Amino acid sequence: MTNTSLLSEQSGAMKIILAPMEGVVDHAMRELLTALGPYDLCITEFVRVVDQVYKPPYFHRISPELRQGGTTRAGVPVRVQLLGQHPDWMAENAVVATDLGSPGIDINFGCPAKTVNRNKGGAVLLQEPETLYKIVSRIRAAVPDHLPVSVKMRLGYENTDLATDCARAIEDGGASLLTIHARTKVDGYRPPAHWHLIKDIRQQVSLPLVANGDIWSRADAEKCRIVSGCDDLMIGRGALCLPNLSAVIQDDAAPMAWEKTCALLLDYAVFVRDDKQRGYLPSRLKQWFRYLKRQYPEAEILFEKIKRLRELDQILAVIKQEL
Ligand SMILES: Cc1cc2nc3c(=O)[nH]c(=O)nc-3n(C[C@H](O)[C@H](O)[C@H](O)COP(=O)(O)O)c2cc1C
Repeated sequence: MTNTSLLSEQSGAMKIILAPMEGVVDHAMRELLTALGPYDLCITEFVRVVDQVYKPPYFHRISPELRQGGTTRAGVPVRVQLLGQHPDWMAENAVVATDLGSPGIDINFGCPAKTVNRNKGGAVLLQEPETLYKIVSRIRAAVPDHLPVSVKMRLGYENTDLATDCARAIEDGGASLLTIHARTKVDGYRPPAHWHLIKDIRQQVSLPLVANGDIWSRADAEKCRIVSGCDDLMIGRGALCLPNLSAVIQDDAAPMAWEKTCALLLDYAVFVRDDKQRGYLPSRLKQWFRYLKRQYPEAEILFEKIKRLRELDQILAVIKQEL
């Protein structure tokens, strides 16, 4: 195993980052998932920066953890992620986020969404390594030295030709960690993830890399580490399909039983009920079922029962019958 670990100095010790997922991995989800298995870091959903500096309430909405020392209750640091193209606006927002207690800043150069890319944010910037450099270096210069600046990128926009140039620009800009989702923007989320291409980039840069994409199981994690040459992994959809995936990977824990997963869905509802987001709960729960179906055959059956229900209490009553 190569020594690519930045999250601790210990070579070979695997670190797992919970992936940012806009509209899915929110504050409540981060709390639940980091209580179920070991994580070393969470990244928030992206804050889209255009031409303004957001006020603290906006950052608190994206990361309520800022009010509890910038960590989940399990003590896992939660880093605010910024997305945008203007180095100065990005840097000014980074300063607000870190002043509020974000334990570092993560920069999104991977978002494939059309509206975001049309406005020159996310993966479209992978065509311009020089712009990546400017954004990273400007943010690095603006936030306190002791706070890490990390980046998340894909392998490219239409192809992977500039992948190494992008990684180099990010390293030269002063980032201390780079997560690579092993697909181009054009690949979308289509399997496979090209883990081997991360290894090629590894040979050209020295900043620590984290491999990401299509890690659904312990076996996938092992294979990804070998093929990518990265010690550290980021997991996203896999952790929604199997909520204790990080414990399965790290500790060889048994996959969470279906009944426990149903209890977790109810916990999620209770958590969000106290939140301003509760209007979204029926659709959030249905969305989670779409992921759970991959791991649990029972989820398919239950989803059929709830998919037309609109009222939260009706949905929760159906889930409770599983306990
Ligand atoms: C619904 C959804 C929302 C996402 N939102 C973000 C985001 O806000 N920031 C980001 O860097 N990546 C985002 N991603 C990409 C994930 O972080 C991750 O790179 C991708 O899902 C591949 O990893 P996985 O196979 O482990 O899910 C999102 C992905 C999905 C499916």
